[in-house]
Amino acid sequence: MRYAHITGWGAYTPPRIVTNEELSHLVETSDEWIVERTGIKTRHIADAEDHTSTMAIKAGREALKVANLDPAKLDLVICATSTPDYLMPNTASLVQDGLGASHAGAFDLNAACSGFVYGLTVGAAMLKSGLYKNVLVIGSEAMSRVMDWTDRTTCVLFGDGAGAVVLEASDEPGGVMSCRLGSDGSSADVLKVALGTRVPLNPLNMVNGNGPYMKMSGNEVFRFATKTMNQVTRQVAAEAGIAVDDIDLIIPHQANQRILATAAKQLNYPIDRIYSNLERVGNTSAASIPIAMIDALKEGRLHAGDHLLMIGFGGGLTWGACLVQWSYSPEDRRWSSYKRTRQAMRMALAGPRRWAGRIERGLDFWELRRRRAERKRTKKSGG
Ligand code: UT7
Repeated sequence: MRYAHITGWGAYTPPRIVTNEELSHLVETSDEWIVERTGIKTRHIADAEDHTSTMAIKAGREALKVANLDPAKLDLVICATSTPDYLMPNTASLVQDGLGASHAGAFDLNAACSGFVYGLTVGAAMLKSGLYKNVLVIGSEAMSRVMDWTDRTTCVLFGDGAGAVVLEASDEPGGVMSCRLGSDGSSADVLKVALGTRVPLNPLNMVNGNGPYMKMSGNEVFRFATKTMNQVTRQVAAEAGIAVDDIDLIIPHQANQRILATAAKQLNYPIDRIYSNLERVGNTSAASIPIAMIDALKEGRLHAGDHLLMIGFGGGLTWGACLVQWSYSPEDRRWSSYKRTRQAMRMALAGPRRWAGRIERGLDFWELRRRRAERKRTKKSGG
């Protein structure tokens, strides 16, 4: 029997912090309204240097460090995002290159705010099937780039950031125990960023508030979120063979404190065991669960052997939950100076390895052109 354990974790939030007060100069809102209706006080916003891929690389590096894993040993990089750097190439490939994960496959996964849970489900399944040994699952979002900064109903809610975990296969029982994913595409319009091949890339589409910005029917998402948290938590707990009360900590997608309070009531589950860092980071979509999980770890809220439920919901509509038996505390992952130096060396070597690959490809291309020119010359001279 193979199990999928979380052996490394890392998060990155951009340094720029935007307060509610700052936003009240941009749109007609107030700190009071935002705190009372959502629980959010600040969010991190990426500057021009940070993108979905660069934030994912920073979080991924940290996760590899905690796992003490050579990036060249990764089999797969999954990047959950709905704000990719480009439509093509995929963001995960940029991350794979940035990390020097020279033997890894890479793909993006778009399930909006449920993306990280979807990624964890896919990654764990690949380890349990025996196909792979080490998978990096990242949730990374530059939500600020798809915000309409004149729309107070959305721009006050979201923030940017990335969170990553290393999943490793092992014979040791524990790790990702049961997962459940769901979707209801009939509600696709409830939460949308209309940028894609259905929307012709025409500058006229960018004017009159029709740009590729997020549009959301907040009330509908709110109702869907509370219903989903209740149903899926019960489902996944039952599948793992434990009672809801045996879950030590729930790490939900961080959308709104009132959603979490309503779900706690419906589940008859203590709200102080539903982790929230909304106040500090707002809604970072696919990045919100791993960022919250790492904050919970830092605060000493997670211990080896604990049952942890991660639950996501969002655009699609999509939802998903994973029940995990937590394997390591941060103290278990504090490496000796020898191991830390080795890991630093591996990470430092990742850069030259990337460049070596580029130089090799350049040389191959140069050789190809040289041979072509030589063939042409031979033909011309009649030889
Ligand atoms: O990641 C998953 C996706 N997102 C979510 O999960 C979000 C789920 N939904 C929500 O969190 C909430 O529905 C919101 C926070 C978006 C909205 O809260 P609400 O309590 O449902 O407010 P509402 O939409 O019913 O609006 C109430 C009033 C409206 O004014 P009127 O029509 O009553 O005069 C809004 O225009 O609040 C107004 N309003 C605001 N006022 C000040 C909406 N946004 C703001 C704002 N500041 N930022």
